[in-house]
Amino acid sequence: MLIFDFLIFRTKKLTCFLLSRFTNILAGKHIENSILGKLQASSHKLQVIQLEPGKLNTRKLAACSLRLVASLPYLRPMNKEVVLSGIRPTGFLHLGNYFGAMRNYVRMQDEFNCYFFVANWHSLTTHPDTKELKNSVHRVIAENIACGLDPEKVALYIQSDVPEIAELYLYLNMMAYKGELEKTVTFKEKVRLQPDNVNAGLLTYPVLQAADILIHRAVKVPVGKDQEQHLEMARNYAERFNHRYGDVLPLPYAFNYGGELVKILSLDGVGKMSKSENQMNTLYLADEDESIRKKIMKAKTDQGPAEPNAVKPDYIENLFTLMKLVSTADTVQKFEDDFNNSSAGNCVIRYGDMKKQLAEDMIRFIQPIRAKAADIQQNQDLLKKIIRQGADKARASASETLTLVRTAVGMDY
Ligand code: ADP
Ligand code: TRP
Repeated sequence: MLIFDFLIFRTKKLTCFLLSRFTNILAGKHIENSILGKLQASSHKLQVIQLEPGKLNTRKLAACSLRLVASLPYLRPMNKEVVLSGIRPTGFLHLGNYFGAMRNYVRMQDEFNCYFFVANWHSLTTHPDTKELKNSVHRVIAENIACGLDPEKVALYIQSDVPEIAELYLYLNMMAYKGELEKTVTFKEKVRLQPDNVNAGLLTYPVLQAADILIHRAVKVPVGKDQEQHLEMARNYAERFNHRYGDVLPLPYAFNYGGELVKILSLDGVGKMSKSENQMNTLYLADEDESIRKKIMKAKTDQGPAEPNAVKPDYIENLFTLMKLVSTADTVQKFEDDFNNSSAGNCVIRYGDMKKQLAEDMIRFIQPIRAKAADIQQNQDLLKKIIRQGADKARASASETLTLVRTAVGMDY
């Protein structure tokens, strides 16, 4: 039913309704020529029946509607939206990855049709040495499962297992312009970090990311704040494609429960926690207890607020953010009250105590994830099975989209 609700929503002027839920019959009273044109452009093989009010041939309609459902992106069952996200295997996963991305994945898996993958092609743009890559890919898969992702519920796969992405990347590259790629914030940042390896893959990184998303026609993309610009670029490429070749690709948006995208700063308050940079100030899901304690106790603080209810500096706010994520509400409230009641010469909040408490709560949070991920990584047979299963699910969806894309472009010989 929802399939056709969505069609009505999309086209407005097309009045259609379902005669029978069982046979999926679509009946139209009035289909505008422009809409017919659009439907036909989306699938050359589609046989569209011109309808006149009062003369409904239900048998023909049934056949036609089934073909419509199979061939049109907007007619896919819309009761479960498609969700997609990826993580590069460029190092150990950290709290930023967890709270910016993976926590949302876990919550979304029951509600949506989810695709989560390891972006190993993307990692080649900055990490051409592949000695550690296999281990890293396995660790990312294991850590995702340890955080609560269920490979039976979602498609959990490796990017390079889905060659369809590379073909879509090629078509989308024709929609991407050099000037705008050069202006991308992440590109400029990487040029600064690796001036001797400004490769074309780095420049077109956002195009490959768009292909990752659009290959499953995903509409919700759970990512951290740093990915907002890439999502905007993916929407631009999808719009340009649709404009040139007909409506095939829905527009994707960054998603986070609660609206605000999350950013976890590094413990020295300089930049964000990251897999490959500033490792002594990043908390990893694989960190041992002692290492967690050490890093948190060294986190940047100051002499305390100069007046009651002061605005918190970024690095103090970050400690509270972390505490809100892993400690009880009472604990957070106690330190909030201490902070708000402090002033110069009367500092109620003791950052040393706060960090001690945070370290113990963090250990309690990370320890079971670390242990479970280690177990999974040791079970190579299980990992292989999960990876194969994920690739099969992802390829089934990707090849459906690619057929639509090829047909729309006219590459269906
Ligand atoms: P990294 O930047 O550590 O290499 P990725 O770029 O692979 O990590 O990011 C994977 C996911 O984790 C993305 O959705 C990204 O937005 C999110 N993410 C990474 N770092 C942070 C952070 N410090 N705070 C919030 N989200 C983050
Ligand atoms: N660029 C993302 C990051 O650095 C990783 C990524 C690659 C991704 N392809 C994606 C994220 C598709 C979401 C959707 O975090």
